[in-house]
Amino acid sequence: MPRIDPAAVLAQLDLEEKASLLSGSGFWHTRAVERLGIPSIMVADGPHGLRKQPGAGDHVGAGDSVPATCFPTAAALGSSFDVDLVRRVGEAIGQEARAQGVAVVLGPGINIKRTPLCGRNFEYLSEDPLVSGVLGAALVDGVQSQGVGTSLKHFAVNNQETDRLRVSAVVDERTLREIYLAGFEHVVRTARPWTVMCSYNRVNGVYASEDPWLLTTVLRDEWQFDGLVVSDWGAVDDPVAAVAAGLDLEMPSSHGGGPTRVTAAVGSGALDESVVDRAVERLLQLLDRVAPGTWAGDGFDEDGHHELARSVAAECAVLLTNDHGLLPLRDDLTRVAVVGEFARSPRFQGAGSSKVSPTRVDDALSALHGRLGEIVQIEFAPGFGVDDPEADEDALRTEAVELAAGADVVLVFLGLPPSFESEGFDRDRMDLPDEQIRLLEAVGGVTDRVVVVLANGGAVTTAPWQHHAGAILEGWLGGQAGGGAIVDVLVGDVDPSGRLAETIPVRLVDTPAFPTFPGRDSEVVYGEGVFVGYRYYDLVDRPVSFPFGHGLSYTTFEYSDLEVDVVNVVGDPDPSADWRGPARITASVRVTNTGERAGKDVVQLYVGAPDTPRPRTVRELRGFAKVALAPGESREVSFTLTERDLSQWSTRAHDWVLEPGRFAVSVGASSRDIRCTAVVTVEGPRPVLPLGRNSTLAEWLDHPVGRGTIEEALRSAPGGDMTPLLADPETLRMLGSFPLTRLVVMLGDAMGDRLVDRLLAEVTGGSE
Ligand code: BGC
Repeated sequence: MPRIDPAAVLAQLDLEEKASLLSGSGFWHTRAVERLGIPSIMVADGPHGLRKQPGAGDHVGAGDSVPATCFPTAAALGSSFDVDLVRRVGEAIGQEARAQGVAVVLGPGINIKRTPLCGRNFEYLSEDPLVSGVLGAALVDGVQSQGVGTSLKHFAVNNQETDRLRVSAVVDERTLREIYLAGFEHVVRTARPWTVMCSYNRVNGVYASEDPWLLTTVLRDEWQFDGLVVSDWGAVDDPVAAVAAGLDLEMPSSHGGGPTRVTAAVGSGALDESVVDRAVERLLQLLDRVAPGTWAGDGFDEDGHHELARSVAAECAVLLTNDHGLLPLRDDLTRVAVVGEFARSPRFQGAGSSKVSPTRVDDALSALHGRLGEIVQIEFAPGFGVDDPEADEDALRTEAVELAAGADVVLVFLGLPPSFESEGFDRDRMDLPDEQIRLLEAVGGVTDRVVVVLANGGAVTTAPWQHHAGAILEGWLGGQAGGGAIVDVLVGDVDPSGRLAETIPVRLVDTPAFPTFPGRDSEVVYGEGVFVGYRYYDLVDRPVSFPFGHGLSYTTFEYSDLEVDVVNVVGDPDPSADWRGPARITASVRVTNTGERAGKDVVQLYVGAPDTPRPRTVRELRGFAKVALAPGESREVSFTLTERDLSQWSTRAHDWVLEPGRFAVSVGASSRDIRCTAVVTVEGPRPVLPLGRNSTLAEWLDHPVGRGTIEEALRSAPGGDMTPLLADPETLRMLGSFPLTRLVVMLGDAMGDRLVDRLLAEVTGGSE
């Protein structure tokens, strides 16, 4: 593809041409301007495989797309906790995109799983922003290493499907920064995606597509994003406001509607032409970035990618329980009963825009026959119908129970039918379908050697039935090779090394967003604030079925020799420090494989900050590393925590603030299974929060300069020295919360406002 000189090309375009470029051509292409040789490029979904539609386009997964490898969905990838692995998936998707002439892959989606009910959780990585950000960045890196762009989505606060095109997420500034924007920030700053896709919803009343704060102040000015912002498909409500806010490309085509309004707005003076130029320039820059050769149709290694999809899916499966060593399957078995339609007809991806046409699909039943069929008798009963109102559940159940009764072990494949979860709508329950639970209860009545294998995108409750299962293997929606991967884990060819990237609560009503989800009248209030997922359950000490970070292995790991050192930064922070600020804590821990099999563990580093102001979390994940260890092998794993890792967002300072004090640095096998902790003290000046007209007496006294100013003002008060007030703790406690403006008026100075302005000027040296 020819290189483009954006500035030179821009200068030759007239206003109509420029405006026309700001809206797509059809469903999947940008617009060309032949006169100047501006090409059109193709974009395509989506996060876990390519969905290139050669013919008519749609964004709901209805029409055909060319065959592509369907990798495990994000819900599964999140559980891998494996940066290298996710990067390899990205590389493979990038290769397939190149082979198909697709310039930008519309993903990854890294929205936070605020509630398990979000119908699209299968497309998202985690309830935790660190996991979302780090793995999201790995996927972006992988795709873009192939000269193909990505579109980080859905920016921002798109955590439900209900009313998704209008709903306003009402969320406070701290929660936004610490939970809902943090993952995006990490990906933008570290992996530099070529494009970011704005979401459908509104954030605090403003459509994401026309929010200058989101699209320009935060994304570009703060995070230094230098790519293009594209709308989600149909997210633009007011095309003029959108361009003004920083949206560069409206998708799909608005058939001239958007461009006409933009041109008219420039004509009437409502929109400056330079704003249009800015957006067009970004589009031209994107075109220029598309690697020469993206169009070559160079093919890809179908078999290799299928094998990769299989090994990745195996790394994502989470072994939730394994009583009496039921797994891996023993090699002296003679009869294995396989129950559940999903063993034969796997559910391996979700519905909607991310739906891939797989190059092939492995089912667990065939894979099991292939792996064990020669030595073991394998019998199958479907047990239930999937989204089949005609299915005779009683007969299916009876058949399955008869089969189970005579088997050495029963593998029961359960999961969510497609009708239970999808893009476009939310779930209304977390439970498995009733008929599946009835089936399991019946099977559990005749044998206690039951292994449940789950296929679901959003988390399901296990509490209602887990006592019937000796072992539970959560396979998520594991992509086209997921069936084989599950067998690899069941028989022990692969050690289960997935860990939960989201908590599995006991009941839906235990979930933090339960009282407010999905909102009403197009508004949803994020009342739980930063207490999302484990941050909530751990704060209120709520029992959960399986905590965040949990997952068993066929071997065991021990942690020892936790060493935590504080790096006290003296003087100016290290100028070479990155956006996270200088290093403040280093931690290392020895992890040892104490079992008899090789395995992989995910070492999780949590930090609690008991001296930071409330409300505060108990602990938050600040680092993770996946390590492969042979039996008896041990390795040291190290982490560096930066200033940012120890900071919280201050709504007063509108910035990250590190409160010096104690920090509990822990290593654990889940947020609830903390194995060792070191408490260290980070020293440093207390953060200086800015004073304003509304600042209270206590805030003034807390301020290093403000305190002296106040003391001086009180000393020379018109009615005589009032500093003795400050010596009485009880009085101070009562008066401390009064803004100074009100206090001075109450103390008899009618001109209190002016006095406060003067004091403020003294403190700020006249800059305010
Ligand atoms: C989805 C996006 C997707 C787009 C194009 C929208 O409905 O929200 O995730 O990339 O369609 O298919």
